Amino acid sequence: MKESRTQARVGTLRQLEILLAVYHSGSISGAAKKLHLTQPTVSMQLRKLSEGMSMPLYYQVGRKLNLTEAGEAAVKTAIEVLGCFERLDMQLAGLKGLMAGTLNLAIVTTAKYFIPHLIGDFSRKFPQIDGRFHVGNRQQIIQRLRSGEDDFYVFSHPPDSDKLDMMALLPNRLQAISPLDHPLAAGAPEQQVSLEAFCQAPFLMREEGSGTRHAIEVHLTRLGLAPNIRMTIESNEAIKHSVMSGLGVSVLSEHTLAFGEQQGLAVLNVEHLPIVTHWYLAWLKDKPLSPVASAFLDYIKQPGREGIDWQESSDPLNGVLF
Ligand code: PGA
Repeated sequence: MKESRTQARVGTLRQLEILLAVYHSGSISGAAKKLHLTQPTVSMQLRKLSEGMSMPLYYQVGRKLNLTEAGEAAVKTAIEVLGCFERLDMQLAGLKGLMAGTLNLAIVTTAKYFIPHLIGDFSRKFPQIDGRFHVGNRQQIIQRLRSGEDDFYVFSHPPDSDKLDMMALLPNRLQAISPLDHPLAAGAPEQQVSLEAFCQAPFLMREEGSGTRHAIEVHLTRLGLAPNIRMTIESNEAIKHSVMSGLGVSVLSEHTLAFGEQQGLAVLNVEHLPIVTHWYLAWLKDKPLSPVASAFLDYIKQPGREGIDWQESSDPLNGVLF
């Protein structure tokens, strides 16, 4: 029988699934590994999808695989279509009286310390629900938000977008830290250090795209100051350990500080610090919530939930950062 035009143009669900795996892993080999397929199978399915669409889906520069505009459109469709099937699965499970499925969360690095506590009770209540976490810096999470494939996003500096609904979770205080034997720590925590003196000390900064970095830069710029950046380090833990080993001072989320060892670390009392922000749970207004996502939102919204000082906020950004 002749294939219908739609089938020929759009490809099969499996091909869309393969394309999505390539998109996430950034390579044919990564997708093959994830889907337990051979690399030639992945390439062949992509070729068929591309032939069906009569357009190339990607091009390669060196080893890096880049999507064409048609490839990006196909990824967007794959996310929507596969998301619909996932929601259908959950609805069917719901009809059978089971709350089962996957909760997809994309969270910024600093939130990874408290999110597991937040969902602990939830997953005990619904043992059939799996959690899938994606952790990245602010920029990476914004990128995921654009593709719309997760149920919820956790930021402390969410993008200013009218496409998002948001709810404030915990406060996120960014504290000044130094090595314990640093001169600025001599009278800590009673003695206050001037922000100017703190800014002169060699500073260990997060990478471009980090919300922590963004908050520090905005705060200091407003006060007419800038940190004396000595090193850029892409991880909160690595910054903490570098400070502990005497490489410089920094400003990090108190949740990062509370996690793991603290030997050799001083939390400083610096004027105009800590920087106080909030984490926000954000979700796309136009994306239907799956039954699992709705159950999670109901759970989070229960007043008096232990450890969560939540409040609804129509303008959680207060126009501060953007
Ligand atoms: P990030 O997290 O520095 O890893 O981007 C910051 C945030 O709290 O938004």
